[in-house]
Amino acid sequence: MDGRGGRPLLAAFIATGLFFLAMPGTVIGVGNLLLIAAAQAAAAPAPAWIQAHGQAQIFGWVGSFIIGISLFVLPRFRGIPPASAVLGWLTWALWTAGVTLHWLAGVNDIAPQPALVVAALLRLAGFLVSQYLLVIAPLRAARAGTVRHRPARDLGSMLGIAGFCGLGATLVVDLVAAVSTAPGSAAYPPALDRILLELSLWTFVLPIALGYSARFTSMFLGLRPAHPPQATPLGVRSLDLGRLLTLIVVAIAISALLQAFIVTAILAFAFTLLTIWALRVFEPPERPAFTAGVDARSPAFVRLAFGWLAIGAALGVAAAMQPAAGGLPGAGRHAITVGFVATLIFALAPRLLPGFLHRRLFSRGLMAASLWLLTIGCALRVVSEAAAYGMPGSWGWQVLPLSGVTELTAVLLFVLNLGATFACRPRGVAESPLLEVLPAAGRRPMEGERP
Ligand code: HEM
Repeated sequence: MDGRGGRPLLAAFIATGLFFLAMPGTVIGVGNLLLIAAAQAAAAPAPAWIQAHGQAQIFGWVGSFIIGISLFVLPRFRGIPPASAVLGWLTWALWTAGVTLHWLAGVNDIAPQPALVVAALLRLAGFLVSQYLLVIAPLRAARAGTVRHRPARDLGSMLGIAGFCGLGATLVVDLVAAVSTAPGSAAYPPALDRILLELSLWTFVLPIALGYSARFTSMFLGLRPAHPPQATPLGVRSLDLGRLLTLIVVAIAISALLQAFIVTAILAFAFTLLTIWALRVFEPPERPAFTAGVDARSPAFVRLAFGWLAIGAALGVAAAMQPAAGGLPGAGRHAITVGFVATLIFALAPRLLPGFLHRRLFSRGLMAASLWLLTIGCALRVVSEAAAYGMPGSWGWQVLPLSGVTELTAVLLFVLNLGATFACRPRGVAESPLLEVLPAAGRRPMEGERP
């Protein structure tokens, strides 16, 4: 897949992700929230609609972005031939069919359970084809001597590998949950849904988001390179950061599968603090931030996203220790998903994606507005959900609808900005799209990686 063939595929994954973010994701999420606020009861929406929203956001939006961007950039990072165009499009078709079918099954009552199983199989098949392209095909090419195999030694790659293994495990549990769903129902059994939530967030989305942060966040914020995997956190010489983080992700997966959710939450909190330390997000930068073409305050929003991550992980521990406090799990989850994941993507995607696709960002003003509104909406949501759920008559119930509408506006502005960016005709740019988003001298080697 050459540069010309890779860009339409990336654009297709991004378009799928933007659609799922806006419509099945946020519109259904806000609808659920309005129902909850009106009834002052967390169980007001049908469980299938709550799950349809969560799946649309995690797999439909974040998953489509991650797979599309990985197929586009990883071969370039690793200096291997780009992926096969036909298999790339097959990945997109299987993945998109899977996330679309799950959403339709969740919000319609037509043969929902068989549709959930087919949807889970389609997503798993899409994932397997993507891993053939990213892992097996390059290894076979290296064995045949057509490319040089360079083992990934930097921290970002290790987190990325852990995250893709986590996605595989998540999709297997997703299939088990679909098969275990009662005939005629569109809602996974609650126990399996809870396991799926923990796995999808802590073994898939976060390791990969943090893995990419080791490259992109460090570069844009002008930070010192992430600590190498051989670094010794807390000054303990026997600790090796790379192995420790990988072990924590594995332990999170095992504890979630065993439903030991307090252990999961504590491990997730430790993982969060260690990765924030490893990425040096709050250390003084060594260079000015790389903000050409985007809102100049985006570095501050990226740091804020990492603040939300720490808050979300801490709320997760509190929620696991006090299961009776009804609003804490949702508040913690959305501090992570909206506060961290969405803010990070809203701050970095306008810098990265237009460069990949030979475009110029449509509007810095829209970018700034989406980031401010997302921050305000998330803060209102986290505080009011924690205060309201389980507390009839609390002031939080009045604030919840406002938080949802503010977040929805932020999402729509982000989608509008990127949609308008990609709708504009390509302009003439340099040969390598990556050079556009990397510092002037091109990509510098990460710490722990050979130049
Ligand atoms: C932007 C506005 C959003 C709104 C208004 C919203 C609303 C909701 C609501 C009302 C619930 C039901 C549980 C609860 O009350 O806490 C929920 C659950 C959930 N949300 Fe969101 N959400 C939003 C964004 C997101 C994003 C960006 C993600 C992920 C990237 C996400 C992932 C989830 C997940 C995984 C669940 C749990 C689903 C389940 O129980 O199976 N949400 N959301």
